[in-house]
Amino acid sequence: MEERVLMAPSILSADFTELGKAVDLVQEGGADLIHVDVMDGHYVPNLTIGPPVIKALKRVATVPLDVHLMIENAEDSVDWYLDAGADWITVHAEACEHLHRVLQTIKTSGAKAGVSLNPATPVEVLGDIVSDVDLVLIMSVNPGFGGQSFIPRSTEKVLRLAALCAGEGASPLIQVDGGIDTRTAPKVVQAGARVLVAGSAVFCEDDPVAAMEAIREAGQSVL
Ligand code: DX5
Ligand code: ZN
Repeated sequence: MEERVLMAPSILSADFTELGKAVDLVQEGGADLIHVDVMDGHYVPNLTIGPPVIKALKRVATVPLDVHLMIENAEDSVDWYLDAGADWITVHAEACEHLHRVLQTIKTSGAKAGVSLNPATPVEVLGDIVSDVDLVLIMSVNPGFGGQSFIPRSTEKVLRLAALCAGEGASPLIQVDGGIDTRTAPKVVQAGARVLVAGSAVFCEDDPVAAMEAIREAGQSVL
């Protein structure tokens, strides 16, 4: 059976005065996950939302909340996000002193555990961890802001990650985040990605649901 490309619209580009409506719209339109970008103003130069907003989103979410933590010391605060109702939690390998420990904390709670890599971090750093995670997130922009351009080298990086996972006998979902649209989606899916995060290419369009489905179809077309 053909694999399905999963869509995780990022509410970072939605209207923050109407987040509940934005979540309703895309989940009714077929979103598989709701991608929530948490930024702490230290690890990345931007400050977004935290546990209270995730708790509120959880009340309206009918699909899993995919929480992308762009924060320092995730080991100290990961419990806040778990308690708030995060279903998937992805931490940055670069920001965790004890990466294995924080991933185990997430898994033990029953949530899905993901690890993310910035554009400058080679996939090889994950060799000892890919068998222990549910998801690997390849950042195809530098984290911190929506609406940036896709870094072309990310496609090859996804390929290298897929090969590394195969070599380790691991099969985490591969997610790509940053500059994903109908043009870049087929490239990363061809390389092995199966979860696409898209913010501005969904929520900055007149019809976010049609935009999201167009991205999925573009990715799905190469499978
Ligand atoms: C960036 C965030 C992304 C962001 C993507 O640091 O992790 O999830 O919302 O936005 P677009 O799709 O506009 O590049
Ligand atoms: Zn993100």
